[in-house]
Amino acid sequence: MNAADLAALETPLLLLDEARMQRNIARMQQRMDALGVRFRPHAKTSKCAAVVQRQIAAGAQGITVSTLKEAEQFFAAGIDDILYAVAIVPSKFDHALRLVRAGCRLTLLVESVAAAEQLAAHGRANGHRHRVLIEVDTDGHRSGIPPEDARLLAVAAALVDDGAELAGVLTHAGSSYSLNTPEALEAMAEQERAGCVRAAQRLRAAGHACPVVSVGSTPTALHARRLEGVTEVRAGVYVFFDLVMAGIGVCGVDEIALSVLATVIGHRPEAGWVITDAGWMAMSRDRGTARQAQDHGYGLVADVQGRAIAELSFGEANQEHGVLQWRGAAGAELERLFPLGSQLRIYPNHACATGAQHPAYQVLAADGTLACWPRFSGW
Ligand SMILES: Cc1ncc(COP(=O)(O)O)c(C=O)c1O
Repeated sequence: MNAADLAALETPLLLLDEARMQRNIARMQQRMDALGVRFRPHAKTSKCAAVVQRQIAAGAQGITVSTLKEAEQFFAAGIDDILYAVAIVPSKFDHALRLVRAGCRLTLLVESVAAAEQLAAHGRANGHRHRVLIEVDTDGHRSGIPPEDARLLAVAAALVDDGAELAGVLTHAGSSYSLNTPEALEAMAEQERAGCVRAAQRLRAAGHACPVVSVGSTPTALHARRLEGVTEVRAGVYVFFDLVMAGIGVCGVDEIALSVLATVIGHRPEAGWVITDAGWMAMSRDRGTARQAQDHGYGLVADVQGRAIAELSFGEANQEHGVLQWRGAAGAELERLFPLGSQLRIYPNHACATGAQHPAYQVLAADGTLACWPRFSGW
């Protein structure tokens, strides 16, 4: 199959530009190598073994996941060093143990004394020492324990047990997503590093080994100047990039590897509308750029070669209809410019959310050939 065959495909579908993805993978890995840290990509972005295998081939060591389903699927694909980076709760302990018993080197995350105690008790009852990180909050963004909080030592104490082993600390500076200057991103990367290292120092001073210090988000990973004290970095969305990342300033639109291929299904010339078969079901409801200087609606419209069409904005979406608004010259013949049945590419606000709407990637290689890579979903 070659690029000309794109026209024969039923849309909407998820199109992956393999050359762009490979460049994104190489860029991040080179940066991590230069900073002297292990890189553990977050596989929740792709949920696709073929993508993750390319990240590992480039030098990544182990992966991060956001669900135990991801852990299961990637373990089945041959990856055995897996960090489940969402705080675990008792209803998932047996599932985690099944993976460990099957041979997976699974690391878990806790952020409370209650979870630590119950996990240790579960390990003890089953003759297994769960490998555990403590989640640290370095930016007030989400979950985790602030580095100076007394609970840090209380959670660690609950993990010193036959049923659990404290492997280290983890943080994710998600507030980097609301920044957009290199200076602010560098400062956030340093805040993320310093807070996580500080938590590790406090644990070590209390007698814990704390070998792992894990940090990361795509914007901070790409802006960290120094990573003293950090042992590994995690990043996910960099593999595809998206419009939110472009708005933050960490990539250009021409580096976004993921788009939705859509077909023109109608026109409303009097309203200046071009209607496509990619509604919010194909794009997701994620409107992440609404909070940024440049709001891209449901996505940035491009021609089938991926060149943005500035005059066509994607402000309205129904489940299976995308309503594109023409903002170019008055009187332009929309049916001639964008004929019925012609295809457009739409760059997504948030690659993880748009990807999750689709069962597979149609992968367009640099030589024009097409391949289909399945992706999974659910829990
Ligand atoms: C715990 C954790 N680590 C790493 C990441 C990766 O962040 P990004 O997609 O910005 O690279 C995420 C993303 O949500 C996360 O939740």
